[in-house]
Amino acid sequence: MTFRRTLLAIIVLGAAGVGAIVSGMWAPKTVQTPKEAQVVTSQVPNTMSRGEYIARMSDCTACHTTDADKPFAGGLAMPLPMGTLYSTNITPDKETGIGNYSLDEFKRVLREGIRQDGSRLYPAMPYTEYTKLSNADIEALYDYFMHTVKPIHQENRHNDIPAVLSMRWPLALWNWMFHTQGAYQVNREESAEWNRGAYLVQGSTHCGTCHTPRGLAMQSVASDETKSGFLGGADLAGWHAFNITHDEKSGIGGWSNQEIVQYLKTGSVPGKAQAAGPMAEAVEHSFQYLSNSDLYAIATYLRSVPGVSDDGASRFEQGSAKAQDVQLRGLPVEQVRKDMPGASLYMGNCSVCHDADGSGSPDGYYPSLYHNSVVGSDKPGNLVQVILHGVKRHTAEGNVMMPAFGEHLSDEEIATLTNFLTATYGQGDAHLKASDIKAYRSLGD
Ligand code: HEC
Ligand code: HEC
Ligand code: HEC
Repeated sequence: MTFRRTLLAIIVLGAAGVGAIVSGMWAPKTVQTPKEAQVVTSQVPNTMSRGEYIARMSDCTACHTTDADKPFAGGLAMPLPMGTLYSTNITPDKETGIGNYSLDEFKRVLREGIRQDGSRLYPAMPYTEYTKLSNADIEALYDYFMHTVKPIHQENRHNDIPAVLSMRWPLALWNWMFHTQGAYQVNREESAEWNRGAYLVQGSTHCGTCHTPRGLAMQSVASDETKSGFLGGADLAGWHAFNITHDEKSGIGGWSNQEIVQYLKTGSVPGKAQAAGPMAEAVEHSFQYLSNSDLYAIATYLRSVPGVSDDGASRFEQGSAKAQDVQLRGLPVEQVRKDMPGASLYMGNCSVCHDADGSGSPDGYYPSLYHNSVVGSDKPGNLVQVILHGVKRHTAEGNVMMPAFGEHLSDEEIATLTNFLTATYGQGDAHLKASDIKAYRSLGD
């Protein structure tokens, strides 16, 4: 949730920036007429209606639910430098929610980011992706929100952004420049499974919101596989959403379809990667609910996304088991702390679960720290975040919990530990300083 707020802040600032570049130099984008997408519809698991399934895969909960007892009642505070914005009540309550929205008005929100009263939404509401939803899926979603979701009377909180800064016109300009509206168009040269995957990835599951880099005005550099950079990896609020293109080394070209499916369903592929932070939230609230056929369709489509290479080493194949206890054995504690501070912090805080040699547990519940994308990446940010905040993920597979060390360890200690881990099990000493950790802390809350 915190991450969403920061992402919003970034996007809004970007949009405001665009407002400043008012000029006629920019050519407007071609706007496609929304046509009914003939995407193969998937089999919905029999535990839920089609509308609920689409709400799950689109993760509407992520931003519109703050209190689990009041699903979709909104109220998520999004602090921006110029004030605080709140997500809105999208339950069917007629006075405070969207109970008076017609189907067409609801469609306009998802396709164009325009509210019932004609005002524009901030593009933190991912209508830039939801625009690809088919008419049939939007209708099912509407039906779910109007008839299954419980109406909750909860006034929307007014944002406290000073009037002059809360003008929404820069957003119209942003849209004009960057938003291509319209339902997903089938690519007839590809299989039905590929099209289903493309529809899901580009549209409702909005992988690109996090994994595709953004340009100067925070617009996504590519919205599908035909434009370079799509899913090429992006920084978000202290995290890095890795490159998931088909490149063998820089992306996930070396993963089997089965591994991609397992990662999205459970958040863990031992020996490769685990999902923490924003990805853990997406797995928990959204991807774990997808049917196997939809998950395989996603994997099939991802294989066709052209590789983006950074010419670096693979983050999945770094390091090997290296015992830390042997060298420390028999030495006085004080000397160990002084001469081998990294190994000492590791043995004191991490080895109880990840083992003295970094190999974790045989079943992979405690993952190995070598052959681990977070430690093996040349971007140490996710490792720092994992140490600061731990890992929490609840799925049908069970609960995964790593404690947070942010309060227990100082900035200096976390820098030392991160540098030690990247030097021992990754691509080399990350050279982080206490001030870097301080900066990561301020991004994470
Ligand atoms: C990443 C965060 C995010 C996600 C995911 C998200 N929304 Fe939103 N949504 C917002 C924010 C923020 C606003 C208010 C924006 C503003 O005030 O400009 C909003 C506004 C809306 C509105 C306008 C309501 C009104 O005020 O009249 C509707 C309807 C809506 N969302 C529906 C949905 C649906 C349906 C989904 C899932 C398919 C969804 N949202 C997913 C962030 C999100
Ligand atoms: C809310 C932002 C967000 C969304 C949406 C999202 N991801 Fe991620 N993803 C991340 C972050 C952040 C990481 C890094 C997690 C970590 O290091 O623990 C990640 C990691 C991954 C990884 C592991 C890569 C590695 O090298 O460790 C895969 C695979 C992946 N995502 C696939 C997807 C797919 C496919 C989708 C859409 C179906 C998606 N993600 C949607 C943020 C997101
Ligand atoms: C109480 C047990 C426990 C302790 C102590 C512990 N971890 Fe973990 N660690 C876990 C679990 C559980 C996971 C999550 C596995 C998963 O996501 O499936 C995890 C995951 C990780 C990951 C992978 C995260 C990702 O996003 O890929 C790293 C890196 C990590 N731990 C490092 C550490 C470090 C460094 C320490 C010491 C400061 C530490 N752990 C202490 C249990 C622990």
